[in-house]
Amino acid sequence: MRISLFRFSLAPYRAELLTAIERVLASGRYVLGPEVEAFEREFAQAVGARHCVGVANGTEALMLALRALGVGPEDEVIVPSFTFYATAEAVAAIGARPVFCDVDPQTFCVTPETVKPRLGLRTRAIVAVHLFGYPAPIEELRAFGLPIVEDAAQAAGAARGGRRAGALGDIAAFSFFPSKNLPCLGDGGAVTSDDPVLAERVRLLRHHGSRDKETFEAIGLNSRLDALQAAVLRVLLPHLEEWTQRRRAAADHYRRAQLERWLALPVEPPDGRHVYHLFVTRHRHRESLARALSERGIEARSYYARPIHCQPAMRSFAPTYALPGTEEVAATNLALPIGPDLTANEVAEVVDAIAAAFSDAPSRPSVR
Ligand SMILES: Cc1ncc(COP(=O)(O)O)c(C=O)c1O
Repeated sequence: MRISLFRFSLAPYRAELLTAIERVLASGRYVLGPEVEAFEREFAQAVGARHCVGVANGTEALMLALRALGVGPEDEVIVPSFTFYATAEAVAAIGARPVFCDVDPQTFCVTPETVKPRLGLRTRAIVAVHLFGYPAPIEELRAFGLPIVEDAAQAAGAARGGRRAGALGDIAAFSFFPSKNLPCLGDGGAVTSDDPVLAERVRLLRHHGSRDKETFEAIGLNSRLDALQAAVLRVLLPHLEEWTQRRRAAADHYRRAQLERWLALPVEPPDGRHVYHLFVTRHRHRESLARALSERGIEARSYYARPIHCQPAMRSFAPTYALPGTEEVAATNLALPIGPDLTANEVAEVVDAIAAAFSDAPSRPSVR
């Protein structure tokens, strides 16, 4: 592929990364320790949350956030079905029941209207996903009076109402998987919260439920952030803002090309900032369009075509009601190349290929 879906390379940061890795090697501290503590302080500040706890990955960040809130067996947690599988898996993995809600096809996110019909006597929390980098309307969900967990795995740097993703709900989970907006060089994650009690609980649970390795107060996990990943994250975090601006500039190039002549484009939040982890359009004949782009060396792909409520592992949680917004976006979404390294010329090439696919429509009747 000449233009890949993720246009993001860490090559320019190689020297800085090697220096940080050498520092960890010299220190002999590989799990938690001063690098992790320094990253936790720096990331909390970047997010605007009082506390950050570094953990092993985004999935366990969600599990630990839910456990810290006291969610457990018999409890129901409202989650969207249109998201990465781990959002609902984390709920089931701690013995609770995921209750699937719909999403707004415009934003790909939950709204008060999609959450409300799923509330019940056993509802203990709502997980709102900032999907593809769009900040979900957390403030509006507060009216339900339930704890809100942000799944901010795809949304480092996003904001709404003057606050950053990770500081909008009661507690938030981040992933630093290498494809994310803030990546590390393997698996990594974090939990952020303003609440010292919740943060302390996550700190305890990420380390086998122990403060001192002598006394074990709770059944926890081994879910610690490695010092190497924390050192890498400390090098990359200062670049997040610039990368976000470059992602947004690339999205702007797509918009200025008036792609909406052919496709439904991602929307911007009313009072906030989309960080375009992915630039996800919608079209009912997306497969033919993806094929036409692929013939021109441009990668485009759909996400979550089989939503979570239809996955075999979720059979026992399958809803009896329909999720029309989820079904619509699962069937129509198509992500176009995006990333800090996507140039205006590359955007022009993608736009040109899309225009050609639609002007060839008589020979490709399924595109229209
Ligand atoms: C929305 C969402 N939630 C949770 C996760 C899980 O994160 P991780 O892969 O770090 O476990 C991911 C990413 O993979 C994700 O995209």
